[in-house]
Amino acid sequence: MKNFITICCILLPLLSSCKSQSGADSQVKKDFEFASKQLTYAISEVDKLTAEEAKKEKKGSPLVAPRTLDKDGNIKLVASRDWTSGFFPGELWYMYEYTKDQKWADAARKFTDPLEREKTNGRTHDMGFKVYCSFGNGYRLTQDENYKNILLESAYTLTTRYKEHIGAIRSWDHSTDKWQYPVIIDNMMNLELLFWAFNESKDSLFYNIAVNHAKTTMKNHFRDDYSSYHVIDYDTITGEVVHKHTHQGYAHESAWSRGQAWGVYGYTMCYRETQLPEFLEQAKHIANYIFSHPNLPEDLIPYWDYDAPEIPNEPRDVSAATVTASALYELSLYDKANAAKYVKWADTILENLSKHYLAGEGKDGGFLLLHSTGSKPGKFEVDAPISYADYYFLEALLRKQKLEETGKLF
Ligand code: GLY
Repeated sequence: MKNFITICCILLPLLSSCKSQSGADSQVKKDFEFASKQLTYAISEVDKLTAEEAKKEKKGSPLVAPRTLDKDGNIKLVASRDWTSGFFPGELWYMYEYTKDQKWADAARKFTDPLEREKTNGRTHDMGFKVYCSFGNGYRLTQDENYKNILLESAYTLTTRYKEHIGAIRSWDHSTDKWQYPVIIDNMMNLELLFWAFNESKDSLFYNIAVNHAKTTMKNHFRDDYSSYHVIDYDTITGEVVHKHTHQGYAHESAWSRGQAWGVYGYTMCYRETQLPEFLEQAKHIANYIFSHPNLPEDLIPYWDYDAPEIPNEPRDVSAATVTASALYELSLYDKANAAKYVKWADTILENLSKHYLAGEGKDGGFLLLHSTGSKPGKFEVDAPISYADYYFLEALLRKQKLEETGKLF
């Protein structure tokens, strides 16, 4: 009897720790099983739509990737020049990374290759979103030399939007009646392509532009509480700040949720690539701004703007939550003192998304998550599924798994 009690004392704690480990595994597993069914369905729906489009023999660029659902629940496809075109192929690469099943690599290639024409498109800053999420993941997972060349050319194209006397990459060319040289917080995400190009080519042009852009953004985009403006407009001659505006947020002085998410992700990534402590400090401050905000709901899925006037009767932005969750797993590697807190926040986001925000299986166009907000002021994609929310959801799940299994991400 004494022996039996001793064995129980040793085994029971071990069994209960196994149980919690398999609990975490099973969430990632369950979500990837769901993603596998949804994305299989999405591919078949997209294939039908693109076949219909091809029959129409319309002039102009072909439609290549799903972005969202329209008001009638139909899949909205976009051409490669759309800033979201890289996310769907990126999701398929993440499916390949998780499953190691060649069928996902084949599908990912099918949706990645039509984006090649973007490598010379210097008309927006969105190169990283388009090309790094698609070809970048493809290259990381396959070492395909052709993909590497496409990425290097794309990175070079992005550098042509940089002006030394401003110290930042110009984000948009549109709305010249409003802005001279608009730089948006989202642009931080596209620096990852430049850091990648520096690491591959050792050409310091890429590194210097990325670091200068991040420093200029740190200086001019943030308020004292570390919330961020969306659009900073610079004088093209003097390089001085002309306006501090929003485009997709509630007001110029409000904190647009996805902007805060781009910020925390962007500065965490910049710290990874530079080891400059100021970038880590910035990421920590932005994370604290988000998670101490009185308007952040208990489930940690933010409203579309932290200052939206009708909170709690405002739409959420699931995409801001998935970008943030993915960033927090990485931030936990660099800010050890607060690592447990970041992982807990990220885990809570993923758990709540899995429980309450998933799309219907075999429905909703094959998207994974409902309730994102693209642009409330623009009256589009309000409370809708959107491809980039799904992309960062899969990325966050993979990061969760890697951290738990190896303690590393890269
Ligand atoms: N990059 C555009 C957006 O976040 O909506």
